[in-house]
Formats: sequence, C-alpha cells, structure tokens
Amino acid sequence: MHKKRYTFETEEFDRLEDLPQKEQDLLKKASEAREHAYAPYSKFKVGAAVLLENQEVVIGSNQENASFPSGLCAERVAVFQAGARFPGVAIQSIAIVAALEKSSSGNPAAPCGNCRQSIFEYENKQNKPITMLLMGGNGRVIKCKAIADLLPLAFGSDFLG
Ligand code: THU
Repeated sequence: MHKKRYTFETEEFDRLEDLPQKEQDLLKKASEAREHAYAPYSKFKVGAAVLLENQEVVIGSNQENASFPSGLCAERVAVFQAGARFPGVAIQSIAIVAALEKSSSGNPAAPCGNCRQSIFEYENKQNKPITMLLMGGNGRVIKCKAIADLLPLAFGSDFLG
C-alpha cells in the first residue's frame, strides 16, 4: 500500500479589476449572461461564458423547470452550445458568475459535479487544460488552471477503450 495526495492551486483575486483585461471581459460576459438566467424556483442565478480557441465566446445561463430535474446549469448550457455550434474547436476558458438573485454578497461558486464531468469531457478530448474563472456576488474571483483539478480520478473516455 502507498498513500497518494492530490492537490491543486488556485489564484484568488479580491476585485475584478485585479485580473488581466481579457479575463475581466469574459467575466463581464458571464455576468451579462446571468441577467438572462431563468431561476424562478431557486432564485440562484448563474451565467457562464466560454472562450474558444477561435476567440468566439459562447454564453449560457441556468434554465430551471417546474419539473426540477428538467432544468440545466449555466455551465452545461454554455459548453453544450459551444460543442454544437463550433464542433472540434478547443475551449480555452470558462467564466462563471453565480449569486442569489438580489444579493451582492456570496463567495464564488464552483461548478456542480455534473458540470465538472461535462466540462472534463471537452478538456480530456482536446488534451489542453480549460481555465476556470469563478466570481461570486461579493466580486471575489477564483481562477483554477484545469477542470481536472476539481475532479480528481475523473472518469473519462479512456476507460471506454
Ligand atoms: N446551478 C448552476 O447553474 N451551476 C452550478 O454549477 C450549480 C447550480 C444552478 C442550477 C439551479 O438552477 C440553481 O443553480 C440552484 O441549484
């Protein structure tokens, strides 16, 4: 038996203005997308903006449903749309802005397990890390270098032969 430890690093910023301009712009797009979230049940609004290698930006927001499991998270709306509109174009980064509807507080929220798995599918396929920028209602930003960091021992296509 041997023990193994899985660790990862983030970069954390107190204010949006402390990030490079390009990353600020992507977070602003995610913030705008959040305005169109349909979240009448949870009141938790999430916006996502995906930057592709061809410099196109594809956005998404969470879309809820009276039949709760039928709704979808912002991240998956965005990455699935990117896959559908720009098949085979690598994803460079995804910005996610999440907060309660009427709140200007709250720490950055990291993607749920299903979204981590969905984003990992693309990262694994393109064999290049996807940077993640997470911003909460309080304006703090957490930058993660790869989705694999948030999904240790991930299940991927490699297992399927
Ligand atoms: N939600 C997202 O859009 N992304 C996440 O990663 C976590 C949760 C949405 C789903 C639901 O509409 C609301 O936030 C509350 O869970």
